[in-house]
Amino acid sequence: MSLYLIKRLFVCHRLRIDFLALVWVFSGATVFSESAFRLNVDASAPRTAVSPSLYGIFFEEINHAGEGGLYAEMVLNRDFEITTLPKGASWAGNLLRTEAKWQERKWFGNELWGWKLLAEGGSKGAIKLVTNAPLNERNPHSMRLTVRETGARIGVVNGGFFGMNFQKGKWYDLMFFARSESDTSFTLTATLASASGRENLGSATIQGVGGDWKQYRCSIQATGTDAKGRLTITANHAGTIWFDVVSLFPRDTFKNRPNGLREDLAQALADLKPAFVGFPGGAIVGGMNLDNRIQWKNSIGPIKRRRGTANLWGYWTSNGFGFHEYLQICEDLGAAALWVCNPGFSDNYRNAEYASPEQVKDFVQEALDALEYALGPTKSTWGAQRAANGHPEPFPLRYIEIGNEASTAVYRTNYPQFYEAIHAKYPSVNIISNQRLKTAPVEIVDDHKYGSPADFFGAFDKYDTAERNGPMIYVGEYGCNHLVGEGNLMAALAEAVYLLGLERNGDVVKMASYAPLFFHVDDIAWPVNLIGFDSSRVAPRASYYVQKILSANRPDEILQTQITPAVKRKSAQIFAVAGMERKSGDVLLRVVNRAATPQEVRVNLHGVAVIARSAKVTTLSSDDPQIENTVDYPDTILPVDSICVPVGNEFAYIFKPYSFTLIRLTAK
Ligand code: AHR
Repeated sequence: MSLYLIKRLFVCHRLRIDFLALVWVFSGATVFSESAFRLNVDASAPRTAVSPSLYGIFFEEINHAGEGGLYAEMVLNRDFEITTLPKGASWAGNLLRTEAKWQERKWFGNELWGWKLLAEGGSKGAIKLVTNAPLNERNPHSMRLTVRETGARIGVVNGGFFGMNFQKGKWYDLMFFARSESDTSFTLTATLASASGRENLGSATIQGVGGDWKQYRCSIQATGTDAKGRLTITANHAGTIWFDVVSLFPRDTFKNRPNGLREDLAQALADLKPAFVGFPGGAIVGGMNLDNRIQWKNSIGPIKRRRGTANLWGYWTSNGFGFHEYLQICEDLGAAALWVCNPGFSDNYRNAEYASPEQVKDFVQEALDALEYALGPTKSTWGAQRAANGHPEPFPLRYIEIGNEASTAVYRTNYPQFYEAIHAKYPSVNIISNQRLKTAPVEIVDDHKYGSPADFFGAFDKYDTAERNGPMIYVGEYGCNHLVGEGNLMAALAEAVYLLGLERNGDVVKMASYAPLFFHVDDIAWPVNLIGFDSSRVAPRASYYVQKILSANRPDEILQTQITPAVKRKSAQIFAVAGMERKSGDVLLRVVNRAATPQEVRVNLHGVAVIARSAKVTTLSSDDPQIENTVDYPDTILPVDSICVPVGNEFAYIFKPYSFTLIRLTAK
């Protein structure tokens, strides 16, 4: 019998079980080639517990993650506030400049960015951004439409965030505020139009629009499909009408929440089964100056009273996906909330602006108020606001992080003030620090890791030498983002190795989250991200599937796993970590083969009951390590399920080139 055939007897692929292999299994025979690695798993040796909260997600408003992404709002610049600068900043040509001389490029092309006049068949008119008679003091700008002559059609058009996704048969709910000169009343027609504007995919009329600011609503069922559609609102006669907070939502949102989330993107998060959700960032926690920091109080309540933010990642955010919506998605995903507060200064990589020592207490209070909003009784000031916003029960907020990537000495002065106040009032909330400090207790410290595949493979044992009596570790941002295209298979394999290294150190490493989470393919601010999307499609990267597999198959304990011949980490081709799931007794064998060739491994399990005959296998692999999923080809690299037939506690398996493999071995 050829060596090849002998090997095939012990390896089966993609739900195919070799008949011959079964015969050999029953006869208990084992045949190994000389070149194979040996993998010894010893369940009788001391085990390390894996942190149950290891796999989480981290959301930052970057790459349109929320605005034009997860947040289902379809209208771009709905509040007409896109030109608003952070206080203290000014224009230097096309650059925004803060007082501390940090510069950002302009995030809009004209003052009514997103909106255009629609004037067809001899119509005449104009649109203008105005500030007289505003809707309210938090929304000082509105759009004035002046209709001089009505030809075929006149009104306004909004193309959304790189197109609006209209799906035949689905309902879309429009809401807007409008006013007119006192004696004029309009009939407006709202239309879901195709990308070209030529096709009408459904419309509705709103009568009696006029007088002082009032709210108007209508619903439209799409009669056709166009992923790049646009919204038009047209008027029936000459006159002047003002608009503000023009909002269009798909009726179907994740869990049918009002002001809700795009179903497909939220489902992609749910499928990760995250233990926690970090929010709101990231650099935006600090902002480009203090006024530009995330101010959670601007992001709750009716959308007409929310104050938007010029996001330092290059676009305007309405804060429609705000603090309340964030807490709600945590609850909906069954995940703990991990909220990040501002530490009393803006982002220290952007010429930070510092609050004076006397002002720091206001920032501490801002954090305490947020905790009260999430956790406080409905009789408390902010707990009452939560109830008024539709959620009397507390939200599952379990962690607060003080600042983001704050490396300065001022942090060491401010942190103790936050720690003491928060710990005194909310002793059960876990407090996360950006630094290891001596000035106050540090329960958990946030380590970030970005780099190349070599860095990530090399970090497999990084935490083996971590201080065991020090703080617990949260890897709040990680991503293999260098030399990996826009996020290829090699990145995912390197991250798998890194994550297995975190699991092995579950006594100190408690949590980890990839960053950044989402990217709109038409406006990317960060080179490598986890989940791509456009107006209608979703494309998780290979890294996403590694996380999904690991998170859904997280063992409770790591078993002693040894590979021979041992090689230096840097040149290692095969990485393996075995663990045990307590409730099932299953042994979960996770193996990464980073080599271009298949690798045969002889597995030997000690100290566990004889393994049942078949095992479930999940493999993420390709002959091309540079392969990537895109919105056009989202299925290029996907995990494949199969069954294999191990021979009791000793068997051989050939791991595919460039592969991450999970073998779930069922104890008898
Ligand atoms: O994840 C993108 C950015 O990387 C975050 O905003 C920041 O915390 C980190 O430097």
